[in-house]
Amino acid sequence: MADIKTSFMGLELKNPIVPSASPLSREISGIKKMEDAGAAAVVLYSLFEEQIAMETGEFSNLLSSGALSLADASVYFPHRHEYPRDPEAYVDHIRKAKEAVDIPIIASMNGTSKGGWLEFAKQIEQAGADGLELNFYFIPTSDTLLGLDIETIYLDILKSVKKIVSIPIAVKLSPFFTALPNFAVRLDETGADALVLFNRFYQPDINVERKEVQPSISLSKPEDILLPLRWIAILYGQVDCSFALTSGVHSVDAVLKAVMAGADIANVCSFLLAEGVEKITELIENTESRMDELEIDSLASIKGALSLESYVEPTAFERSSYIKLLQSYGRI
Ligand SMILES: Cc1cc2nc3c(=O)[nH]c(=O)nc-3n(C[C@H](O)[C@H](O)[C@H](O)COP(=O)(O)O)c2cc1C
Repeated sequence: MADIKTSFMGLELKNPIVPSASPLSREISGIKKMEDAGAAAVVLYSLFEEQIAMETGEFSNLLSSGALSLADASVYFPHRHEYPRDPEAYVDHIRKAKEAVDIPIIASMNGTSKGGWLEFAKQIEQAGADGLELNFYFIPTSDTLLGLDIETIYLDILKSVKKIVSIPIAVKLSPFFTALPNFAVRLDETGADALVLFNRFYQPDINVERKEVQPSISLSKPEDILLPLRWIAILYGQVDCSFALTSGVHSVDAVLKAVMAGADIANVCSFLLAEGVEKITELIENTESRMDELEIDSLASIKGALSLESYVEPTAFERSSYIKLLQSYGRI
């Protein structure tokens, strides 16, 4: 039987299937179900900076500072009782999850500014989390903000959290960086233990009849894997940290593609929300049988095999592939 063990930011995992942050981890029973189905670890749903700021009385400061500059943007945010748990209860949730299951629990903090909320990482570590994912979900809407400003904030946040805790830290990013390899290297140098690629960009639709913006959260499709796949293939070998691929993992072949590009784990979310957490078992069993069928002994033997690491001139390779692809239309 093929060896499907992997390691991710220092955590030894029995397989590469890790459910990513989602409502599936809101209840301990949900986490237990994922463990029973075979998940190698679970990433908890996120605790938001705004939630912590509400509790510490820093919410209005947060809204009037830096990135969020509207005088009273508080109306846009959910009321505190609309979050599944307050920050203290989130920490308690970690503690209970650790008591209930044996697999690693990775907590998730979601924010965009360097502030008091980061201190919360200490409580997350003390509650027993095996790792912490920092999700930087920020959409720049100001024409005065430079790309470098945003990168600097993220690096500062990471630096602060690394000083506060010693558990491994994963950084979950959006794909919208002008020069992702350079930023990835700087995150790696600042101590990121893993990069989680990519956050999905939630894009509200417009209802033409009602003439209003319509928020929508759509689940991913299998083809959504192509973006993180490409970027992990580009970054693999350029940084020392681990990679998690998130977006579009809906099948066993998607798991193998993620690893061939250079990922250490495949995060799954939409597939489980749509089809049920029992699908984890099927993914794991099928990974083993598919590897046997393809005569692949271990995940380690294929990791990064189809990355750009071996290309002498990756930029020229990317450019030439693009040109060839456009020219081939109609011929293939
Ligand atoms: C309903 C829902 C809730 C989510 N909640 C979170 C969250 O709390 N924190 C986070 O970092 N990502 C969250 N995500 C993003 C997922 O973890 C995942 O990165 C994304 O959906 C792409 O993976 P997929 O294609 O497997 O769905 C959420 C996604 C969905 C669909």
